[in-house]
Parts: sequence; structure tokens; C-alpha cells
Amino acid sequence: MIDIRIEKTTAPKAKPDWDNLGFGNFYSDHMFLMNYTEGKGWHDARIVPYANFSLDPATMVFHYAQEIFEGLKAYRTPDGSIQLFRPDKNFERMNRTNERMCIPAVNVEDCIYALKTLVDIDSDWVPVKDGTSLYIRPFIIATDVHLGVHVSKTYLFAIILSPVGSYYAAGINPVKIFVENEYVRAVKGGTGFTKCGGNYAASLIGQAKAEKLGYAQVLWLDGIEHKYIDEVGAMNVFFVIDGEVVTPTTEAGSILPGVTRMSCIELLRSWGYKVSERRLSIDEVVDAYKAGKLNEAFGTGTAAVISPIGELNNNGEKMIIGGGKIGEVAQKLYDNLTGIQWGKQPDTLGWTVKVN
Ligand code: COI
Repeated sequence: MIDIRIEKTTAPKAKPDWDNLGFGNFYSDHMFLMNYTEGKGWHDARIVPYANFSLDPATMVFHYAQEIFEGLKAYRTPDGSIQLFRPDKNFERMNRTNERMCIPAVNVEDCIYALKTLVDIDSDWVPVKDGTSLYIRPFIIATDVHLGVHVSKTYLFAIILSPVGSYYAAGINPVKIFVENEYVRAVKGGTGFTKCGGNYAASLIGQAKAEKLGYAQVLWLDGIEHKYIDEVGAMNVFFVIDGEVVTPTTEAGSILPGVTRMSCIELLRSWGYKVSERRLSIDEVVDAYKAGKLNEAFGTGTAAVISPIGELNNNGEKMIIGGGKIGEVAQKLYDNLTGIQWGKQPDTLGWTVKVN
């Protein structure tokens, strides 16, 4: 296992108001850092007090966005212990992202060990209240100081921790989603399947437009025909059409292969649901809605957990789904997934990893 130098803070921060965490507003006392240098590999692993970075203005990440990230959570269980949910899947995905973005691979076991050590040190930042958790944000940035467009030879890997409540202000209540018919998020051969910051930067214009119109997020369609459903930026999407659970296939490489998405598919199949990972056009969803066969729509994600979609606006045509209430499939997934994550029900699938 890697050797981690630990330097504890001498000035712990005041804790936030646990009743009003929101998402991504507060950061714990420590962070994990590790550097990469070509010829030397990943080195100098350390846990140090949370602090600003000092970087040269010509650092490559500022100019060419060679940056990637992950998102996972630590959960407080009823007996007071802390656990992670499938952290191996996040670091394995991080390496698939790294490969596409020309960033050196990380060692998955070392990352899990580093994360467990960090969360244990900052264990008093893992909230206790129902529906809250410690959001974990590992990320890597290119640190060469250079303005030529090349692959960086040096990197900084960091993990920061943020106690959070729900991602959406609406909580588990259905969110309104705007179908984006003008801008696109990803194309085949691009970076849609990765968790690189650039994907999110490119999505902001659609997000801003949707927010102005009173919608929480954007439903992205494929980049070529503007016809097939991809994902909702911060979530993968599922539709229940006439009893069949359908979610867009990740085959084209334009969708993030979500850990929550994968877990939902596995749970649904284990319960006997018919789940299809296939191409799904927005027209098929509209037709199902008109025929009264669109039973449910919901998003899945680490931050968003299970988020029912109560309204879809496609070219001004509003589809009100499930009468403003969470549907049966989404509710069952929410109860079981959060039951496993927060340790309120047995983890028969071996998905959780104890921190302490
Ligand atoms: C997550 O669900 O972990 C995400 O990364 C989504 C988002 C907050 C960007």
C-alpha cells in the first residue's frame, strides 16, 4: 500500500449548520494530494490541511482543460460507523477517463486506501441526519507550466470532502427537465463517456437556458441526429414505458456509465424487471406519453441519488409525468439503494466498504 504522509490541521474549521447543507457548499479540514512526474510515477502521497493551491498562471489545466474528476459518497450508518459505496467502480472509471484524457492511470487499491484514511481523519464531517452524506470529489489536473498544446508530463491528484444534503433543492420531489434541441453535449469519438470537466463546461449554456425557463436540468439528445436520448448531465435517465424499464445504452460512448445507473440496473433485474439498455428516441417517449404508456421517468446519480422527473419540456410541449409524484419503480429503487448505502438494510451484494 502507498505510504501517506499525514499532517493534521492545527486550526479545525467550524462545522456547518447540519440542517442546511445543500450541495457542495462546505469542505472538511483535510485533503489528500499526490503528484505525478514523468519517469517517477505517482509520488509524495499526503494528507494535509485543506488549503488553496498555488499555481503558475501558465499551468496547462487553466488553458487546455486537461482535467478529470469523480464523485462518490461516504455514508453514516445507524451504528455510527462510516461506509463507502462501490468505490472500486469510481476509481476504475477514473482510469477509463484518464486513458481518454492522456492522464496516467492511478492504482485503484491505493486510491481506496487513501480515501479511507482521509475520511477516517475527517470522520466528524460525515453528517448523521437522514438523507445527508459526505460527498467525495477526487480530481486530477495537468500541472506543466507551458502554453504549447501537448500532453502534460506532471499532474496533481487531489481528494476533497464536502458534507451534503440533496443535490436538487426539490429533494426527492420530482424535478422539471428541459429537452435541449439546439446544443449538444457529446458525440461518438468524443469525451461523453468520461468525467472530464470539459463535458460540464460545454453543458453550461444549455443549463443556463433551462434554469432561466424554470427547469432544474437539461435532457441531452445525441449529437448527430438530435433524436436519441443521452443523459441529464448530472444524472443518467430511466423511463418506464408500458412496464418496460428503458435506459439509453452506453455503447455509443456519449453517456457517462454511472455507478448508480449500473447498480439500479442490477437491482431491477434481480427483482425480475425487464430492463432494456437501448437507443431510445425522444419521439418514442412523446408517443408513449400521448398513448398514456409513459409510466415513469427518473434520473440516477451519486449526487442526485434517484430523482423522479415530474415534467419534461420538449420544444415547448410539456409532458407531466406521474402526476407530480414519485413512481413505484423509482420509489422502490430509492428505498433499496439508500437502504444499502446508509446501512439500513443488509448489503447482500457486497457493495459497501467500511471506512472504520
Ligand atoms: C455525481 O453525481 O457525483 C456528479 O459528479 C454529478 C455532478 C455533481 C457533476
